[in-house]
Amino acid sequence: MALERTLSIIKPDAVAKNVIGEIESRFEKAGLRIVAMKMVQLSQEKAEGFYAEHKERPFFKDLVEFMTSGPVVVQVLEGENAILANRDLMGATNPKEADAGTIRADFADSIDANAVHGSDSAASAEREVSYFFSDEEICAR
Ligand code: PPS
Repeated sequence: MALERTLSIIKPDAVAKNVIGEIESRFEKAGLRIVAMKMVQLSQEKAEGFYAEHKERPFFKDLVEFMTSGPVVVQVLEGENAILANRDLMGATNPKEADAGTIRADFADSIDANAVHGSDSAASAEREVSYFFSDEEICAR
């Protein structure tokens, strides 16, 4: 078992629904620790940079527009196999396909407004964590 860190974002739809606490509670109950956290309003530039790998996808413009539509909670989760553990808690990208009891099944409305983001690999986690947090902002336990 590897101790990992992963980037998690609570997206504007979930912030607007006032379910930040319910989502955090799922991470904590699953044994993931929040070791860095901030609420931010993403600029267009910051959101475009974050999703740069999807620049050519047809949904890119809508994704950036959605992610800048309201505040988000950006955080680093730490724990055993945190990347996969977070993805399991989140459920499938499309909430219609998400397993019952996952965050997206319970809180997401559509593939666009799907409540949460989580890094999908160790390489993405490293890039994404450092995209939002400096070393000093991450509180090692
Ligand atoms: S892929 O194909 O695996 O690269 O795509 P995926 O990682 O599942 O999704 C990339 C992000 O784009 C958001 N998004 C959409 N994906 C697919 N189709 C549509 N229409 C769409 N609209 C938005 C999706 O929620 C993913 O966002 P993150 O923040 O990475 O979860």
